[in-house]
Amino acid sequence: MPNHDEFRPMRSRGRARTREDRGEVAHRSLDTTFAEYAAKYGLTPPGEEAVTDDPPYGDRWTTWPDSTPTQRGPRPHPDWVITELGAVDTELGILKTGKEADVFLVERSVPEATRRTLMAAKRYRDPKHRMFHRDVGYREGRRDRESRVNRAMAKGSAFGREAVAGQWAHAEFAALSTLHSAGVAVPYPVQIVGTELLMEFIDDDGGGAAPRLAQLRPDTAELHDLWEQLAHNLSLLALAGYAHGDLSAYNLLVQHGRLVVIDVPQIVDVVGNPHGREFLDRDVRNVGGWFVARGLDPARVDRLGSDLAADARLD
Ligand SMILES: Nc1ncnc2c1ncn2[C@@H]1O[C@H](COP(=O)(O)OP(=O)(O)OP(=O)(O)O)[C@@H](O)[C@H]1O
Ligand SMILES: [Mg+2]
Repeated sequence: MPNHDEFRPMRSRGRARTREDRGEVAHRSLDTTFAEYAAKYGLTPPGEEAVTDDPPYGDRWTTWPDSTPTQRGPRPHPDWVITELGAVDTELGILKTGKEADVFLVERSVPEATRRTLMAAKRYRDPKHRMFHRDVGYREGRRDRESRVNRAMAKGSAFGREAVAGQWAHAEFAALSTLHSAGVAVPYPVQIVGTELLMEFIDDDGGGAAPRLAQLRPDTAELHDLWEQLAHNLSLLALAGYAHGDLSAYNLLVQHGRLVVIDVPQIVDVVGNPHGREFLDRDVRNVGGWFVARGLDPARVDRLGSDLAADARLD
């Protein structure tokens, strides 16, 4: 067992006195020391106003630089998309609390400039806070390659739940990008950061969100026009090989008479999926029922079903 006492005299004998001990340098005040630290590490010296990194107004700096090029919408970016690094995001309120996500209205603006743009921010909840689960089945084959993520998802840890929410946000961002490029009327996907998807805000005349189809009471001419637009959009989807997968009068917005398809994270690859034809038919039946209840000839619904199967080369 070593005797530590032996080492003590050596240590004290060997240690040189500091220059301060020997009176060679002036005693430094705490203020001087702090001022040096403050200058070096960007701290605020006492008595001065704090300099923060917060934006001049708004809730946060723009998240545009947080997204990599693949996490941004298809090029060319529409001219209303604000890409300036000095821009600021302000949350203006909640548009809708959904079953799986909440949708907020966010303004992005450039300080001291007149440019501002409104976006819908869809924030996916982690599965624990959802009211129903679309995960089962749909998520099959979408497994994250990283096994840590797989294990966390299986265990349902906070990290795993966040990963599932992020997957849904990412699936919707990818679907919107594909469909937008295929010419389908969908909100332009601006960017994705984590579990938040920022997209074009589909507004109405009063500045609020455009109504859902389900809220409208169209006259005969409007009903036929909306049906034509729906058929056209579903045909573009089918030609690209997809069914919406959750189509209803609640997932269609009507902006100044223009039909816009929303809520697309679960789009189904009808060629690769063994039940592709069933997904196509179910979409048409669900939304077709709404139109027929308002006077559309049911034969047109049947015809759309077979037209889409032909578009997707399934018949
Ligand atoms: N881009 C948008 N522009 C305007 N409003 C939007 C937009 N995206 C979503 N909304 C509004 O938010 C609602 C919910 O969006 P969405 O259907 O995508 O989410 P959800 O979680 O599936 O909701 P729900 O459970 O009600 O279907 C829409 O019905 C619509 O009113
Ligand atoms: Mg929806």
